[in-house]
Amino acid sequence: MSINIESHQNEKRIFKPAKEFSRKARIGSMAQYQAMYDESIQRPDKFWAREAADLTWNTKWLKVLEWNPPFARWFVGGKLNISENCLDRHLQGPRRNKAAIIWEGEPGEKRTLTYQQLHREVCRFANVLKRQKLRKGDRVIIYMPMIPEAAIAMLACARIGLTHSVVFGGFSADSIRDRIADCGAVAVITADGGYRRGSIVPLKKNVDDALQGGTSTVKRVVVFRRTGQDIHIEEGRDVWWHREMEYVDAQCPPVPLDSEHPLFILYTSGSTGKPKGILHTTAGYLLGAYITCKYVFDLRDEDVYWCTADVGWVTGHSYVVYGPLAMGATTLMYEGAPNSPDNGRFWKIIEDYAVTILYTAPTAIRAFIKWGDEWPKKYDLSSLRLLGTVGEPINPEAWMWFHTVIGGGRCPIVDTWWQTETGGHMITPLPGATPTTPGTATRPFFGVDAAVVDDDGNEVPPNVGGKLVIRRPWPSMLRSIWGDKARYKKTYWSEVAGCYFAGDGAVRDKQGNFWIIGRIDDVLNVAGHRLGTAEVESALVSHEAVAEAAVVGRPDELKGQAVVCFVTVKQGVAATKELAAALKKHVRSAIGPVATPDDIRFAEALPKTRSGKIMRRLLKEIAGGQTVTGDTTTLEDFSILAKLGASPDE
Ligand code: WTA
Repeated sequence: MSINIESHQNEKRIFKPAKEFSRKARIGSMAQYQAMYDESIQRPDKFWAREAADLTWNTKWLKVLEWNPPFARWFVGGKLNISENCLDRHLQGPRRNKAAIIWEGEPGEKRTLTYQQLHREVCRFANVLKRQKLRKGDRVIIYMPMIPEAAIAMLACARIGLTHSVVFGGFSADSIRDRIADCGAVAVITADGGYRRGSIVPLKKNVDDALQGGTSTVKRVVVFRRTGQDIHIEEGRDVWWHREMEYVDAQCPPVPLDSEHPLFILYTSGSTGKPKGILHTTAGYLLGAYITCKYVFDLRDEDVYWCTADVGWVTGHSYVVYGPLAMGATTLMYEGAPNSPDNGRFWKIIEDYAVTILYTAPTAIRAFIKWGDEWPKKYDLSSLRLLGTVGEPINPEAWMWFHTVIGGGRCPIVDTWWQTETGGHMITPLPGATPTTPGTATRPFFGVDAAVVDDDGNEVPPNVGGKLVIRRPWPSMLRSIWGDKARYKKTYWSEVAGCYFAGDGAVRDKQGNFWIIGRIDDVLNVAGHRLGTAEVESALVSHEAVAEAAVVGRPDELKGQAVVCFVTVKQGVAATKELAAALKKHVRSAIGPVATPDDIRFAEALPKTRSGKIMRRLLKEIAGGQTVTGDTTTLEDFSILAKLGASPDE
């Protein structure tokens, strides 16, 4: 494995937290971090029992961890309910009338739900779900725009023990169909449509297409009216959210659920064609989301906290909904795009609501840089006290811009490394304690035993690249891949013996900071979204004109990586510009706009090794426009190299 770490080693700038910030923070020094970290590793039971006592339990656990590698059970024997932790327990005191969710629609509507109001809506909607005869353990797909009802639907499911699977509103009908089939969902909660950059996303139409043919396990579709456009209502299957809400009352006691009760399944891309259903359970996941909000965001009652992620991603689960609400915080939700109606929308929202914490993605930051400083400069951003990033490695230029232009030089930045699989932050600065340097996610969070190892699993010396692994279980870890324990074991726990490995490469410097290099498996990171190359390849070969396809990433200034497809066509098919455009459209409709290829290149044959493996490294170099280097002697057909150059798009 070769990783280019040189660029990182030149970065020497160090930013220490301001004294004022540290003084108020829960963790105010590296000494305090180190003492707690040591305890979390040396006496994990004691550490986690103490932190878990912050949560509201119906029955206390008997044992903190039962570990039969690689299967973990946390807080064994305990019972609790997440919606009770996020709502009911805040109703006893002054938080009752505090804003739980502040929402703004893309067209500009504003709504605020207090904890009391949110609790009432969740109870009523849970009763709607009960009325539809949904029962504990049933799987429910949530396919919604970024509106409070998305959070209400999630919390209502959690309240009565339904396992939700949120599907990002940008995914296609095919993606919904696959997910329904994989988890055997019996209901879908959706909306007529949602707003995105001034146009309407036809959510209900996509659900209709996904359910076409009538063979689906889905018996019920609940539709929230968001846009008011005309939609098809299937008699006997579809019901309106607002109508159903008329029949129910507002009493719905939370169901005490086992610590290991399946809370949600979230599909994410891996190195095979089919996305995998990452399974998270109740107590450990909640604790992970809660404790990271507590220490990493150092979330306060007076904060207006804004995580810009969509609920369709894990970041939206842990850091828009469950974590902040479990803390009793105010979480801001915005429905639309950052450049609607103009490039200043985010900064206007920050000014309007006096946002104090902003958590967003490097790809968004790079777009803001491109749009120009005049946009943020028009607005008062002085309310901000803390910034965060997630989703991909942040380049030092973007970090510095975020720090200076948005943070006014005074806000710490937490560059948080984690994954759908980890449930919550794993490697991250603590804002009142950790000195930061642009480009490093710094230190492991409490209880996280992270290391960089070579192919044999031995820890590598400082400044040497290797695989990033976690050497012991943590509460918010995935429990399995839905319906496929063998794949769970193979994907995450067999690459490096005894360790969790999920595909990233990293370097640890002499000070102990982790620098994440990015994926070293066949997963791309496009604008902060995970995309399996195999997933795009299987979409391509499902097109009648395509014989074979290989997909690689090309470095992209804005998106981090762009999707480049090398395609060979079937005999008699002409490799034309029109076909390239049709293939892009085909992939887009098979997976969703996030997967739209940037470049289709036709080739007579793909370069393969003697054993028939596609030489991806080579294709990557060609896609990136680099001259081909290294050993190509195992190429089957050298002439192919020359033919691969031309793209009909150019
Ligand atoms: C990447 C998103 C560098 C990484 C929460 C990981 C990062 C994948 C960072 C998970 C970061 C996430 N620095 N890389 N701070 N955060 N990544 O499952 O490659 O959508 O494996 O979870 O994003 O993406 P996922």
